[in-house]
Amino acid sequence: MATPDLFSSQLPGPDPAHVAQLRAALHHHAHQYYVLDEPQVPDAEYDRLFRELQAIEDAHPELITPDSPTQRVGGKPLDAFASVRHAVPMLSIRTETDTEASGAQNFDARVRRELGLGEDAPLVEYVAEPKFDGLAMNLRYVRGVLVQAATRGDGETGEDVTQNIRTVGQIPLRLPSDAPPVLEVRGEVYMRRDDFEALNERQREKIAQGMKGEKTFVNPRNAAAGAVRQLDPAIAAQRPLSFFAYGLGEITPAEQGGPDFKTHFEMLGTLKSWGFPVSALVNIARGATELIAYHQCVGQQRDSLGFDIDGVVYKVNSTALQRQMGFVTREPRWAVAHKYPAQEQLTTVLGIEVQVGRTGKLTPVAKLAPVFVGGVTVTNATLHNEDEARRKDVRVGDTVIVRRAGDVIPEVVSVLIDKRVADASVFTMPRECPVCGSAAVREEGEADYRCTGGLFCSAQRKQAILHFAQRRAVEVEGLGDKLVDQLVDADIIKTLPDLYRLGFASLAALDRMADKSAQNIVDALEKSKRTTLPRFLFGLGIRHIGEATAKALASHFGKLDVIMDATPEQLLEVADVGPIVAQSLRTFFDQPHNREVVEQLRACGVTWEEGEPAAITPKSLAGKTFVITGTLPTLSRDEAKDMLEAAGAKVAGSVSKKTSYVLAGAEAGSKLDKALELGVAVIDEAGLKEMLDGGT
Ligand code: IVH
Repeated sequence: MATPDLFSSQLPGPDPAHVAQLRAALHHHAHQYYVLDEPQVPDAEYDRLFRELQAIEDAHPELITPDSPTQRVGGKPLDAFASVRHAVPMLSIRTETDTEASGAQNFDARVRRELGLGEDAPLVEYVAEPKFDGLAMNLRYVRGVLVQAATRGDGETGEDVTQNIRTVGQIPLRLPSDAPPVLEVRGEVYMRRDDFEALNERQREKIAQGMKGEKTFVNPRNAAAGAVRQLDPAIAAQRPLSFFAYGLGEITPAEQGGPDFKTHFEMLGTLKSWGFPVSALVNIARGATELIAYHQCVGQQRDSLGFDIDGVVYKVNSTALQRQMGFVTREPRWAVAHKYPAQEQLTTVLGIEVQVGRTGKLTPVAKLAPVFVGGVTVTNATLHNEDEARRKDVRVGDTVIVRRAGDVIPEVVSVLIDKRVADASVFTMPRECPVCGSAAVREEGEADYRCTGGLFCSAQRKQAILHFAQRRAVEVEGLGDKLVDQLVDADIIKTLPDLYRLGFASLAALDRMADKSAQNIVDALEKSKRTTLPRFLFGLGIRHIGEATAKALASHFGKLDVIMDATPEQLLEVADVGPIVAQSLRTFFDQPHNREVVEQLRACGVTWEEGEPAAITPKSLAGKTFVITGTLPTLSRDEAKDMLEAAGAKVAGSVSKKTSYVLAGAEAGSKLDKALELGVAVIDEAGLKEMLDGGT
């Protein structure tokens, strides 16, 4: 007997007006998302509305109407593209919204139940894959030639986007002769994060130049969808897309000579051998424990991957078991998507503050009602600068979409205009520094306002100290922002050298400072005195002098005094230095008080080994330019970059004919394609190590 529902008899039925409202909202948002590629709410919000409607309909099936958004998946195709009826429907996947380990346990338990496996039966073998955040694509090959590419659409009928898909370098146009006569490969078209950032940068430039009809994209998936459904293939070609294969559609049956894959994993391996990109993160997992481990392991890498994923997918590996389990409506029973926390969420703006950076840059920052995004609680999101803040027109009290993906700082993507309160006031950039009151100026051609207070401004002083003390500069362990706030606010530290005049007593006298901690800081300061020239130079916080430029200057000139006195012409001889950097160095060292700071730091005992100019000790990779792409097996990108730079090489961000080598790891994307296209040599991590050992 079914458990009696204790509540429904006491509660009035659902309000029909509310149900109608939910449906109208879902129709509207589905149209924005699928047809216009301009979502107005984050996926998580759409899912929430969808689940609410689904729950009402589950409890009251009599309310279901044939046109309810729950009765159809996807959206209607755009008129401009021809419709394609899929030979085999494109299914969707059941989603396990429980982002904890139990999501994997639930799935494994259900699979075992449906297969009638007892407790003693062996573990079920699964394939675990990332759930790529792009759009599903069906690629149809006839006698080895790509004849059609179609979007998923509503699962039955999609759109013919063949022209645009042909521009995706990673998708083979021809297959080797062992591919079957009819083959449909399914997978995800997506945009890499670096390609997305670069595209938006280009879009912002076009907007700044006053080009009409241009816009920035809210996230990589949205940009990918826009590119795929771009009516002009020439424009589509400028929007770099990537692809991962994860399944099949129609295929020549085994009885007619087609392949007979015993497992999903075997199928993926074969697709790879035919030239399709298959993610290196795809793995076999046995039983719930290994599924959980996979979910966690990929979750830890999520931020550092080159592309967005919104979860992982588990699939029963054996194709025989898949057939045995079959489907419910449009979802296979042998697969599930196990989500990660969403990377976009809705929240409200409590205020807009202006923060002052180390070089005086004023950044508008939205203070948010705390919201859990991409696995962390976010309370601040950057609005970048005056133009961006104005373009997005974020106002206090607004409901906004915040996004946090990868290592980038959280940002406000857009405002939900419908929800704006009547009296929300427009944000304007202040004309004076909010911290020290000095004039704030925006120079011609610059995007940012800057406080002109210099080290008179306590905000700039604090940032300058934190910059000098950071791990990548001279590294004073334990000197964090709270402590620096106290030291500057109490006027104990006015300039950098004051740091080394801090005694145990002055530290121990501070609020909430135990003797032990004070001693640790004293020790850390002592330790930081022995440093290197590049770290010291970077730590001075000269505008435009990043780590790489500091290293280049140090190895070119060898000695600090030589750098301080170098003429602009001499500075320009350094590989990494252009006119802006040269000017910035000269301006800095032409100021007597900056030279004074350097002298005092030296007098306090800060030392480094000086070297000879690079010309006398040529480096093994001098003059060579490298581009690093993808995930290397053991080295982080920063480590590889350090090793290359130490050997005299330059590390650039994009591939051109001038690139000497591309260092490629797993999931390398468009940069690798570009290298192959231009005939640039490609090496892997092992190759790099050989090169450094051998001194090639
Ligand atoms: S398999 C029979 N594998 O998620 C199962 N889908 O609702 C068909 N997706 O529209 C899909 N990564 O766009 C599968 N590794 C993966 C995936 C994946 C992303 C997307 C796909 C599909 C949606 C499922």
